[in-house]
Amino acid sequence: MSATLIDGKQVAAALRAEIAVRVAALPYTPGLAVVLVGDDPASAVYVRSKDRAAVAAGIAGRTIRLPADTTEAALLATVAGLNADPDIDGILVQLPLPPQIRQQAVIEAIDPAKDVDGFHPMNVGRLHDGRPGLVPCTPLGVMRLLAFAGVPIRGARTLVLGRSAIVGKPMAALLTNADATVTVAHSRTRDLAAECRRAELLVAAVGRAEMVRGDWVANDAVVIDVGINRRADGTLVGDCATAECTTHAAAITPVPGGVGPMTIACLLENTVTAAQARRG
Ligand code: GUN
Repeated sequence: MSATLIDGKQVAAALRAEIAVRVAALPYTPGLAVVLVGDDPASAVYVRSKDRAAVAAGIAGRTIRLPADTTEAALLATVAGLNADPDIDGILVQLPLPPQIRQQAVIEAIDPAKDVDGFHPMNVGRLHDGRPGLVPCTPLGVMRLLAFAGVPIRGARTLVLGRSAIVGKPMAALLTNADATVTVAHSRTRDLAAECRRAELLVAAVGRAEMVRGDWVANDAVVIDVGINRRADGTLVGDCATAECTTHAAAITPVPGGVGPMTIACLLENTVTAAQARRG
């Protein structure tokens, strides 16, 4: 058997088109501020694509570039200015930050109503309580992909591989809120392969190139590969050995072109959600 590929590029394009329609109907232009500290080339690439996608959806994108030696106080002052700016609905501070800046202090300084990353403890708490709030973009994108692909979630035996604050933990919360039966596995889990094999739905978010092998995947499972790992030869691979997994799975997301494009689409969705909640 060969798995169906879930085309994230196609789903993300449809979602971005929906967002553009929502934006066009608003009596104002939603604003998204992206703050980039330092000159990490990968972060610069992400920030440029976020800005382009925002503009294409009718959102006013504002990129604020700060030097690598920016102090924590200066960054907090920038965030305070954006919190107070009525034209800005969403604030994203690109991570990682340079070592002189405490990441958590910056996350907690962002107005929770403008926290389009969903990283503020207020939004984390709301998600874990199952109450409305802003949800981290990558796990939200996975939920949108699952809905598009018609994957049944209620009661599904689900394994989330990885427990990061950006993906694994919010992913487990979203799936639990959607009535999945969720196990979270990680680097200290005994017999990861056996845990994976029990899953009807497997979400891999560990950041280890091709760690999930074909024989870790149950027949007819759905595999969502969140990993984006760069090999020595420059090619991008996921956390799953895609070709092997395809022989077992019913459906799988490719890397690139699976979950990745959904993250930016969901950032735009969160910006519009934040704008509508804030501006009424
Ligand atoms: N760096 C890598 N992923 C992310 C993300 O989702 N949000 C932010 N702010 N920085 C990141």
